[in-house]
Amino acid sequence: MAEPVNVLFVCLGNICRSPSAEGVFRSLVEQAGLADQVHIDSCGTGDWHIGKTPDARAQEAARRRGIDISGLRARQFSPEDLDTFDYVLVMDRQNLADIKDVWHQNGGTRPALFLEFGQSAHQEVPDPYYGGDAGFETVLDLIQEAGEGLLADIRGRLA
Ligand code: 4NP
Repeated sequence: MAEPVNVLFVCLGNICRSPSAEGVFRSLVEQAGLADQVHIDSCGTGDWHIGKTPDARAQEAARRRGIDISGLRARQFSPEDLDTFDYVLVMDRQNLADIKDVWHQNGGTRPALFLEFGQSAHQEVPDPYYGGDAGFETVLDLIQEAGEGLLADIRGRLA
């Protein structure tokens, strides 16, 4: 079998958006029967939450959609991630600027906005950390839609 495709989701804290993306996308990949061929991880550009579980609000919103992200633990982005992962997908333009600085020095996989794989007008997944519960639903909606586009792209790569 071909080498697995490695996908990394990146946000700021790795406790809200990117672990949600990891959980939702893993669910899409499993439903597609591609779990053996797609490896998924997430991380944050910041170091505040290393080792922590996802935010309780993110866990609850995901759980309502049948997705369990309680086992995930936050880690910080490292430059080697650009060598290891085939897709490095960030949630917003600040994440992109932060990772691009590393990419300019390090080379490797060029980081991209995750929502480039979606069809909606949104280009960024808004940070829900300081907002209400509705923000976490928006995150999941945007991630689900872009995840379907990403899965189609990966299918093309695996074909
Ligand atoms: P995330 O959300 O980047 O989606 O995980 C945040 C989590 C924590 C903080 C900011 C954003 N914070 O400032 O601690």
